[in-house]
Amino acid sequence: MRRSLVVANWKMNGSETFNQVFVESLLPKIDEVNVDVVICPPFVYLSQVDELLDNSDVQLGAQNCAVEVNGAFTGEVSATMLRDCGVRYVIVGHSERRGLYGESDELVAAKLAAVKAEHLTAILCVGETLEDRDAGRVLEVIGHQLQAVANMLGRDAFNDIVVSYEPVWAIGTGLTATPEQVEEVHRMIRQFVSDHGGAECAAKLQILYGGSVNANNAATLLAQENIDGALVGGASLKADDFAVICKSVG
Ligand code: 13P
Repeated sequence: MRRSLVVANWKMNGSETFNQVFVESLLPKIDEVNVDVVICPPFVYLSQVDELLDNSDVQLGAQNCAVEVNGAFTGEVSATMLRDCGVRYVIVGHSERRGLYGESDELVAAKLAAVKAEHLTAILCVGETLEDRDAGRVLEVIGHQLQAVANMLGRDAFNDIVVSYEPVWAIGTGLTATPEQVEEVHRMIRQFVSDHGGAECAAKLQILYGGSVNANNAATLLAQENIDGALVGGASLKADDFAVICKSVG
């Protein structure tokens, strides 16, 4: 019932040449896939990648956005501007934003509200650190991240968004959470959303996994009942590997 979604988060990587070579190499490889695909390049390349993706089904995404619409916020980019550049999806609350740039659960919730106000699809990232996991606080930490969104947006908070579970300890480390570990957290997320917004909202929510997804482990992860796709960092910078991941969706 839920369509699968594979998202490339390029983080702070890319160049005009790289972007062109990557997209021209990727598109013919994923011509036949039965999965939604999104590429999230850095802000400055959005318009270039949008043009490169013309005439394809691949959608454009952004990695972050401001809470405000416009004004004296030097260096910020609003969801309104992103929509103007052809963006359809916006990642909010990535652990690198939370950890390196001090984004709180409440700020992330406000960004999600800004994305929804523009009728774009937010990809809300949640996840625990290794310290949280070792202390048995996985569900508590993720519950708090979800609750902040629920508090700010009310009953419809999780309608028409995507949630991505990204355990911080699995990002860029080569350590992948086991399919069982991911399933446990994804079931918890779906239960939270069901309790908050109703069973129908929970049943249609796409929940992605991110954290060292690669061409070798994608098929096993994506075969799990509650893993509806992947948010891919490092392996999304290699067109061949990313194409294999897109094709891994059963
Ligand atoms: P890696 O796939 O490089 O571990 O990154 C995951 C991630 O942070 C995607 O948003």
